[in-house]
Amino acid sequence: MKTITAAGTTFAVDDRGTGSPILFVHGFPLDHTMWEAQLESLSRTHRVIAPDLRGFGKNAVVEGTVTMEQFADDLAAILDALSVTEPVAFCGLSMGGYIGWQFFRRHLTRLSSLILIDTVAKADSEEGAAQRHKTAETVLAQGAEVMAKVMPAKLFAEGTLKHKPAIVERIKHVICSTAPSSIAAALRGMAVRSDSTPLLTDIDVPTLVICGAEDQITPPEEMRKMATAIDEAEYAEVANAGHMTPMEQPEAVTAAIRQFLANHS
Ligand code: MLT
Repeated sequence: MKTITAAGTTFAVDDRGTGSPILFVHGFPLDHTMWEAQLESLSRTHRVIAPDLRGFGKNAVVEGTVTMEQFADDLAAILDALSVTEPVAFCGLSMGGYIGWQFFRRHLTRLSSLILIDTVAKADSEEGAAQRHKTAETVLAQGAEVMAKVMPAKLFAEGTLKHKPAIVERIKHVICSTAPSSIAAALRGMAVRSDSTPLLTDIDVPTLVICGAEDQITPPEEMRKMATAIDEAEYAEVANAGHMTPMEQPEAVTAAIRQFLANHS
């Protein structure tokens, strides 16, 4: 792990391997370790860069609201600090995908391709946004454990919950280690994010969309529709996975990314 200074703060970044760069952007409320299997395998052929986002993982606690725009600008600053000038394959899961839309909007010249995993383009509904604000208050009052209790049932496929307890425990541990005010800041940022659906028809970089067949948060029907709206996007559905496809079915996800990148190199 490296600690780098960028955008007026410090970031922990896993940066390994050589070759064309892949930027891995974790979901909420997690950290870069969710990509461990992909980093291990793909670093043999690529430079893999997986930061902890502002407020998460080993980074300093944040307060207030962190917008998807801020996260995207942080990533560009991290690439600058690491002297990455070659355009990157941007690989984001869920909130990482929401950040991906902003990276496309604001830092297009830094982008070679998009890999969007278990994510959506639309904004929150009014009720959804209100619920996020409420959850932020609950977490601030009661701690991150509240999230760690409720999230696994939503994040994982039934088979993962039953047969892969180590993965579930790892995620719970990461959530419990995250500061409540950082969780609240990202919740508020997601609540105010804009609708990126109109952007889909503008996307002109190679795009791979991956969805866990049992994803309840960003379900396959929705992700299929999203992939259809992006010109020539490839779509892969992974069996026996929920929302955390890269952890639940690491080999399938890594193979899909590897093949996609080989096809577009
Ligand atoms: C994530 O995995 O990043 C979250 O499920 C995103 C969300 O809450 O919309």
